[in-house]
Amino acid sequence: MTLVHAEAVKNTKNVAEQICNQMKTMQKKVHTQYPEADIIAQAAQILQQGGLVAFPTETVYGLGANGLDEAACKRIYEAKGRPSDNPLILHISHIDELRPIVRDIPQAAQKLIDAFWPGPLTMIFQKADCVPDTVTGGLDTVAVRFPSHSVAMALIRKAGLPIAAPSANTSGKPSPTRAEHVALDLDGKIDMILDGGATTWGLESTIVDVSVTPPMILRPGAITKEMMAQVVGDVDIDAALLQKPTTDFRPKAPGMKYTHYAPKADVFLVQGNDVVRCINDLAKKQKAQGKKVGVLATDQTKAKYHADVVLSVGSREKLEEIGANLFHVLRQFDVCQTDVVYAEVFPLTGEGLAIMNRLQKSAGYRMIEAD
Ligand code: TXA
Ligand code: MG
Repeated sequence: MTLVHAEAVKNTKNVAEQICNQMKTMQKKVHTQYPEADIIAQAAQILQQGGLVAFPTETVYGLGANGLDEAACKRIYEAKGRPSDNPLILHISHIDELRPIVRDIPQAAQKLIDAFWPGPLTMIFQKADCVPDTVTGGLDTVAVRFPSHSVAMALIRKAGLPIAAPSANTSGKPSPTRAEHVALDLDGKIDMILDGGATTWGLESTIVDVSVTPPMILRPGAITKEMMAQVVGDVDIDAALLQKPTTDFRPKAPGMKYTHYAPKADVFLVQGNDVVRCINDLAKKQKAQGKKVGVLATDQTKAKYHADVVLSVGSREKLEEIGANLFHVLRQFDVCQTDVVYAEVFPLTGEGLAIMNRLQKSAGYRMIEAD
């Protein structure tokens, strides 16, 4: 490419970026249980015309586009700054919408559908030809979810399309559990945000690959291994989930290999017998070096810490509460401009596995032993 040509391309790109940044993002409050028909109709029309609409689901906010429209799906990747090899989940609002987008529905999948859909469970199927490569990142499988949130359901039904929707955050940031989080990341880059308040689960859906036998969990979430095993018997779990990905040992869901959920601060997890004392010692050293220190605590321990910003994620007795608050709290450390965050750890069983998976990723798998 000649220099002049390169300059012209750069200028065109700058203009395109400016237009993109100047886009006005409409934000509308919507009733969580009984979404207003006129607002849903307006949002559905934007989706039908190839636009991007962020909407609440029971897990996190999704950034929706027409899942059968390559150009619309490309806009999702651009708005999020998402690597193109990280495929999207197609969202449906009725079980009849599944068959046209998958090659077959294995028996185990049918049992999981009967038990957990609509709800926070995504399943990986062999894809049908109508699903564009932009959605699947070139894979021959497709991820499908039937959310239970009234706003998500109403929007997908009104649009009459499978809706591709990753979490509505900038790639790498914690997933958004409130409309404010979406606006902070994507204002000016998308057409509309439907504000349905805080989401209930707060962690992204469980992903289970039902194209293999036995089904394999690729991302832990609210629907646990134990819950699925009761319905289908054997369930495997991707062994790479709780370790730092390497070139030889990568999680099977492409998105799980990326750094994620990271506040701007350096996050460290602390485990062992005397976590509170250990964190207080570490905090003291960091403060002596002029660092602003945050602690991710629980209701049971928050009063025991001496740090600049101590935030509780909820009661240790209620893991679902911790799941619901985790991403908001991680984002609060950014708002408070902390330099270092020390975080307590949680059990690796039941819902704790999903919490620890996200926390380990936010910490880049750094763990300090308290003993
Ligand atoms: O709760 C959720 O699942 C939210 C809401 C909006 O529904 N969505 C969400 O999407 O978390 P996203 O894009 O942030 O995460 C989708 C994950 C990524 O890790 C991606 O790599 C994986 O699903 N995935 C998508 N298609 C896949 C496929 N065919 N095979 C394996 N993994 C896949
Ligand atoms: Mg995501």
